[in-house]
Amino acid sequence: MPHPYVLLSAAVSLDGCLDDTGPERLLLSGPADFDRVDEVRASVDAILVGAGTIRADNPRLLVNSPERRAARVAGGGPEYPLKVTVSGSGDLDPAARFWHTGGEKLLYTTDKGAERARAHGLAADVVALGSELDWRRLLEHLYAVRGVRRLMVEGGGRIHTQLLTQGLADELQLVLAPLFVGDPDAPRLFGPGAYQAGRLRLLETRPIGDVVLMRYEPTAPGTGPLPAAADHHWLALACDLAERCPPSGTAFSVGAVVVAADGTELARGHSREGADPVVHAEEAALAKIDPTDSRLATATVYSSLEPCARRASRPAPCARLILDAGVRRVVTAWREPDTFVAGADGSGVLAEGGATVVVLPEHEDRAKAPNGHLIGR
Ligand SMILES: NC(=O)c1ccc[n+]([C@@H]2O[C@H](COP(=O)([O-])OP(=O)(O)OC[C@H]3O[C@@H](n4cnc5c(N)ncnc54)[C@H](OP(=O)(O)O)[C@@H]3O)[C@@H](O)[C@H]2O)c1
Repeated sequence: MPHPYVLLSAAVSLDGCLDDTGPERLLLSGPADFDRVDEVRASVDAILVGAGTIRADNPRLLVNSPERRAARVAGGGPEYPLKVTVSGSGDLDPAARFWHTGGEKLLYTTDKGAERARAHGLAADVVALGSELDWRRLLEHLYAVRGVRRLMVEGGGRIHTQLLTQGLADELQLVLAPLFVGDPDAPRLFGPGAYQAGRLRLLETRPIGDVVLMRYEPTAPGTGPLPAAADHHWLALACDLAERCPPSGTAFSVGAVVVAADGTELARGHSREGADPVVHAEEAALAKIDPTDSRLATATVYSSLEPCARRASRPAPCARLILDAGVRRVVTAWREPDTFVAGADGSGVLAEGGATVVVLPEHEDRAKAPNGHLIGR
């Protein structure tokens, strides 16, 4: 089930705090950055904060610029993004500003929390997600039922920590403010947790007055059948690589990337790469990796098209090459059609060999784009 694009947004002090412990919200950013945040809010379908942030800050979470609100309406959307909060207890103040400003409001909670929230008479849709709150179910619900495609998450720390450790954050927009909090009890941006090993990808740095915006993208593949946000990023890259293939009327254009469990790219390739007119994308990528590289056993292969099960040009199909390399996880956008091989089932070959195959159909159109002439598009 698809999820919205999830953008985490936060401002932190130099010692990593989101706030101090005083009664007033600590202002970490300046006017220019607050205006940037307003612009980001205006660009999303929904804004989410945790119940802790509503209790501590009593925020409104509005799009303040009338021009930006008018542009949203002119584009056919609501004036304000949907406001979403998350609470296990359902114990929220019905007088909080969150419920009485801006557009529609939505509370995700547990079955027990829903009883309490309803008893409080909160001015919001209340959605109970069972005995525990499951972030994947929440994101699926936002996408499928509320039509949310871009979600901005504005904290606090417990929410950011869960979304990042569960591989559900597509992007982190972090503003570093030149001040210290120094209080051991102040809330931190990220708590302890099973974060991805390895490094995130830096997308951008931008000075804004005396603060600096840093944008990062997680890089670690998911594990097993559960897709992580980074799986989408890597598969999108594989689809980009497919566009680079020399054209052919007799073979698909495919891109592939091999990524280690810690998010390190091991190799990439595309069909008919270099001087080899018949090489396949996965084959080209795997050929660049030392076969004794121990990272292959926990790596993921991203391929815009399902790895082939049979081929005329060479004895070993790509599904076999992947298994022989020791890789046990493959993410693809598109199952192979019958164009050249009837009943090709690379996923079946991979599954029989003990690999997990994850198909992300959200990328199918991009994977098909350079192959339109072969599939009658
Ligand atoms: N600098 C910034 O950019 C920024 C932005 C936002 C917030 N903040 C600061 O962050 C602080 C608040 O952060 P926080 O970590 O204390 O709170 P939080 O992350 O905003 O909210 C935590 C609450 O959300 C609910 N929740 C979270 N995960 C849940 C789950 N898996 N299942 C059920 N309920 C769940 C729980 O509500 P219940 O307790 O109701 O069960 C939990 O107490 C404040 O001091 C605020 O000023 C700073």
